[in-house]
Amino acid sequence: TRVLFVASEASPFVKTGGLADVIGSLPQALNKRNDVQVRVVLPLYQETLDKWEDTIKEFLSFTVDVGWRHHHVKVYQLFHQDTHYYFIHNDYYFSRHQIYGYDDDGERFIFFCQAVCAMLSKLEDFPVDILHAHDWQAALSIAFSKIQYPDWQLQTVYTIHNLKYQGIMQKYAFSDLFNLAPDHIAGFEWNGLLNCMKAGLFHADKITTVSPTYAEEIKTHYFGEGLHSILNERHQDVSGILNGIDIEEYNPMTDSALVCPYDHAGNSKRSNKKALQQQLGLPVNADIPLYVMVSRLVEQKGFHLVQRIIDEFLTEDVQFIILGTGDHEFEDYFYHAACRNHSKLVTYLGFSESLARQIYASSDFFVMPSLFEPCGLSQLIALQYRSVPIVRETGGLKDTVQAYNEHNLSGNGFSFPNYNAHDLLHVLRYSLQIYHDETQWKALHHNIDKSSFNWQQSADAYVQLYHSLIKSQKGE
Ligand code: GLC
Repeated sequence: TRVLFVASEASPFVKTGGLADVIGSLPQALNKRNDVQVRVVLPLYQETLDKWEDTIKEFLSFTVDVGWRHHHVKVYQLFHQDTHYYFIHNDYYFSRHQIYGYDDDGERFIFFCQAVCAMLSKLEDFPVDILHAHDWQAALSIAFSKIQYPDWQLQTVYTIHNLKYQGIMQKYAFSDLFNLAPDHIAGFEWNGLLNCMKAGLFHADKITTVSPTYAEEIKTHYFGEGLHSILNERHQDVSGILNGIDIEEYNPMTDSALVCPYDHAGNSKRSNKKALQQQLGLPVNADIPLYVMVSRLVEQKGFHLVQRIIDEFLTEDVQFIILGTGDHEFEDYFYHAACRNHSKLVTYLGFSESLARQIYASSDFFVMPSLFEPCGLSQLIALQYRSVPIVRETGGLKDTVQAYNEHNLSGNGFSFPNYNAHDLLHVLRYSLQIYHDETQWKALHHNIDKSSFNWQQSADAYVQLYHSLIKSQKGE
């Protein structure tokens, strides 16, 4: 079975969030098996071109129409870690400073999706059986292929990584940019606007999202971001497949970003912690429990809750580190909170991959009280580095973290159900109590050592889904 992944980002080529981690590691996991072959197509951004110029090779060229605009497309290709990548190149749309955030993002990804469809018929050595598109930027590749090439009998899978970002455009764009007959508008229209996410949900043969709990949540009004009714209509085709992480990549034993790589948490974690405290100007003392957040500073990640209780929590004998960038509201707040509590809280407004890893490795607790979380990768990375996750019970957080139970010694972290700041404070204080109880702390770590979220299981689930699609196509 030949599968083409369509997405807007993939590590190590281009990354703004968790989507890139998934597109950068799931294809490799699938390609290790012999029953599927996965290739990936991405836009060729300036940033990617600059970095990979010497390795990527031009491979195809053709033209594509976006409304009346006649655009030149070049496709480049490259092999990386046993996976074949295609890149769609067009100076006008993708040779820009940023990856997203332009007024014409809608038009840019219409172009990308049209180019992907046009490319499909030219891949002689790779006749695609299944087109697997991820998030709104890739959703239209499914809609266009179904409408423009009905006799291809291509099967399609659409994966939602985050329902909040939908790719919304004014309705007049349909006649200006889409090159489709007017009667097709129903599949794209939503509340008087055009919506790429909806088009993906409408046209795909199967819909998946990145955890079983999120797959249920998005069918409700609260989590549905306005699209719960269509998700309910299609409920038989919606499923949740939990993400994994690349456990070779996130391995505290071999991670060269760490001051002191380690196999068991004990002493080496303390060495990393002391080095980090020193680096960030915190009192150096490995006995003080260290709580951290490595995250975009946005509402989704639960910063409103942390904001409410941070001063109160810092009256305890603890240290807290926040690393990331995001909304000014939160950047300002936590910058000032760190000034008020300079011996206990460090707010590092920026991103550094190696500092992030040193923080995972040094910390005792990883705080992630998300408002919603399709899957969440950071809590999985935290578990790898034996940092105890403290999460809100939503989406993938609920599917990967089980609350510690001091009576039967089960569970690999701490959690609370309601989006409430004092519930968070309560569980933070409880975690502190367990930290100071040697027997309980050991039992908790024993459970963490047993949790593993590599790609194996998820890869099996995707292959099963692909095979069921091929079977249904053949009418078996
Ligand atoms: C998005 C979601 C995150 C998920 C990631 C990869 O970034 O917000 O929860 O883990 O996509 O699927």
